[in-house]
Amino acid sequence: MPRPREPAPIYLDCDTGIDDALTLGYLVAAGAELVGVGSVSGNVSAELGARNTLDVLALAHRADVRVAVGAHDPIRGSFHGGAPGVHGANGIGDVVLPRSDAAPTGETAAAMLSRLAREHAGRLHVLAVGPLTNLALALDADPELPSLVAGVTIMGGAALVPGNVTAVAEANIFNDVLAAARVLDAEWPVTVVGLDVTMEARFEQRHLDALLEGPPVARALGAMLGTYFRYYTPVLGRPSCALHDPLAAAVALGELEPTLAPVVPVEVDTTEGPGRGQTIADLRSRFIGYPALPGTRHRVVLEVPTGFGDRLAEALLGL
Ligand code: RIB
Ligand code: CA
Repeated sequence: MPRPREPAPIYLDCDTGIDDALTLGYLVAAGAELVGVGSVSGNVSAELGARNTLDVLALAHRADVRVAVGAHDPIRGSFHGGAPGVHGANGIGDVVLPRSDAAPTGETAAAMLSRLAREHAGRLHVLAVGPLTNLALALDADPELPSLVAGVTIMGGAALVPGNVTAVAEANIFNDVLAAARVLDAEWPVTVVGLDVTMEARFEQRHLDALLEGPPVARALGAMLGTYFRYYTPVLGRPSCALHDPLAAAVALGELEPTLAPVVPVEVDTTEGPGRGQTIADLRSRFIGYPALPGTRHRVVLEVPTGFGDRLAEALLGL
C-alpha cells in the first residue's frame, strides 16, 4: 500500500473541527508538503470549515496553503447542522482566531483535488478526515482520478468496535454513506483509520496543560481543546479526548507505523436500517486461508503503537 514514507504532496479534505485543527497544526509541524485543502460539511458547514481552515493555517504561519470550499450537502439529503456539542458553535471550541487575509480559491474542493492529482500525477496522497462527499464528487467527475492518486487515507469507520453516531456507524461515514461507499468502491488503495484506533489515541490533562503553557500557536489549539475535553471527559471517564484526525494524519505521513493493519475488502452499508453507515471489513482471511477476495485493497488499521498523544503534543509545541 503506497504511503508517503518519502515526502509526498498531500491534499487534505477536512471539516474543521477541533481535531481537524490539530491535524492542520500537526501537518505543518511535521513539515508535510500540503499542496491544497478542501472543506466539507461535517463538524460545521463547508463554508465555515474553510474559514476555520484558513484561520488555523494562518495561525500556524502557512497562510500560503490554498483552501477550496467543498460540498455543503451530502450526495443525497441535506447538511444536518454540525456538531456544536462536540466542537463548539464555531467548530473550533468557540475560540476566535485572528481572521486570515487569505480567501478560499474560486474552485470547488472536488475540482482542486482533480487538478492536484494531475499536477502531481502518481505522487499525490489524499488524506480525508471528514465526510467523503468531495472525494466522491471528484471520482464521478474524473474517472481517471484513481489512476492518478498514489494513495488515500481516511479517518472513518469502525471495524471491530461500536460506532459513535449509531451502534455501528462512525460520523464521517454516517454523514454521507453514499459518498463513503463510492470512495471505498473505487479502484484506489485506501488506508482506513477508524474508531478502532482513534478512540484509543488520546490527549490527557497533562498534554492540555503543556499546550496551554506553550508558545502562542500551541496555546490557541489548547484553548480550543477545552470544549473537546468537556465533551469527551464523561465519555472516556477521565479528563482526556480522542485524537481521531491527527492519528490518521500520522499514519498517512508514515510517522506512525501500524502494528496490525490487514489489507482486506471493506464495504459500507447504505441501507436505511440499523446497519446504515457501518463499514464492514471482511476479516475472514485472518482465520481462513482465503486467496485474495474481490475488492482486497483496503488497509484497515486495527492497532498502532501507544503514546501518540505525547508525539502530537511535542509536535504542536514546536509550532
Ligand atoms: O468520528 C470522528 C470524526 O468525525 C472526526 O473526523 C471528527 O473531526 C469528525 O469529523
Ligand atoms: Ca474531521
